[in-house]
Amino acid sequence: MAREINTVGVVGVGTMGAGIAEVLARNGITVLAVDRDDAALEHGRSTIEHSTQRAAERGKLDAADRSALLARISFSTDLASLADADLVVEAVVERLDVKIDVFQQLDKIVRDDAILASNTSALSVTEIASATRLPSRVVGLHFFNPAPVQDFVEVVRTVVSAPDVVEDAVALAQRLGKSPVTVGDKAGFIANALLFAYLNHAASMYEAQYATREDIDAAMRLGCGYPMGPLALLDLIGLDTAYEILETMYLQDRKRVHAPSPILKQMVTAGLLGRKSGRGFYTYAEEYSSTVV
Ligand code: NAI
Repeated sequence: MAREINTVGVVGVGTMGAGIAEVLARNGITVLAVDRDDAALEHGRSTIEHSTQRAAERGKLDAADRSALLARISFSTDLASLADADLVVEAVVERLDVKIDVFQQLDKIVRDDAILASNTSALSVTEIASATRLPSRVVGLHFFNPAPVQDFVEVVRTVVSAPDVVEDAVALAQRLGKSPVTVGDKAGFIANALLFAYLNHAASMYEAQYATREDIDAAMRLGCGYPMGPLALLDLIGLDTAYEILETMYLQDRKRVHAPSPILKQMVTAGLLGRKSGRGFYTYAEEYSSTVV
């Protein structure tokens, strides 16, 4: 019999975790959001407030539903607050050591029948699962950015994932109005394995000063009908996350197209992370408006 999933923990309320918390709460689920400090939690809370405010202004969410959505999300810096969660989605930084540490802690906190899911883009779900006591209850639940908007979800099954765990994860994604697919555990799954070679190529083209950022993006938007150009998309993803994803794929497959373009590393080192830091290939926040990359 399928598990009842009424309470979901979200660990890491950055770019993705905030969106995942929003989409869960919008669909009637009680959300416990955990991050490592109050500043990160405050950032996550304000992301959700802004995003739902925009949805309300566009007539996609009425005021009462927005208040109910926000009331379903509580925030904590303590992983132990997830003891009663039916499922936990981990959305911390794309680093294997950090994810394993979070999963090992969660493994001791949640009930044995609770599902542990990672939103990783490219790391091995099998390695994360194997570091826990009960690897069969671990799957990937890979949302797309922005999570409240994009309909696709990749449910990643490892060779030891229990079939009922995979089924329940698929059912949850469907309940959120998403179109889930089930995939095996290979770096980048389907979408990122196809997407990131292209994004990396665009960064290299920009680095070689072959064309301006606006013209690179216009080529794909206006010439190829993509909703967003590759450099604007890299800014949306976050350059630190994009760098980690490329590096993981490159270490796994050694394809040159996945060797991270040096400019990505340089921009990350300089704190130019994209939208989340106010500046990446483009400038977003007021305080950066006098400088142009
Ligand atoms: P982010 O850098 O925006 O947010 C990460 C959050 O995790 C931050 O709030 C940080 O404070 C928190 N965190 C770090 N260590 C923690 C710990 N030990 N315990 C609790 N919280 C911790 O990263 P982003 O972009 O949201 O990525 C998160 C995950 O989602 C990564 O695995 C990434 O690959 C994946 N992902 C990212 C997408 C994107 O477009 N950015 C799309 C789909 C998946």
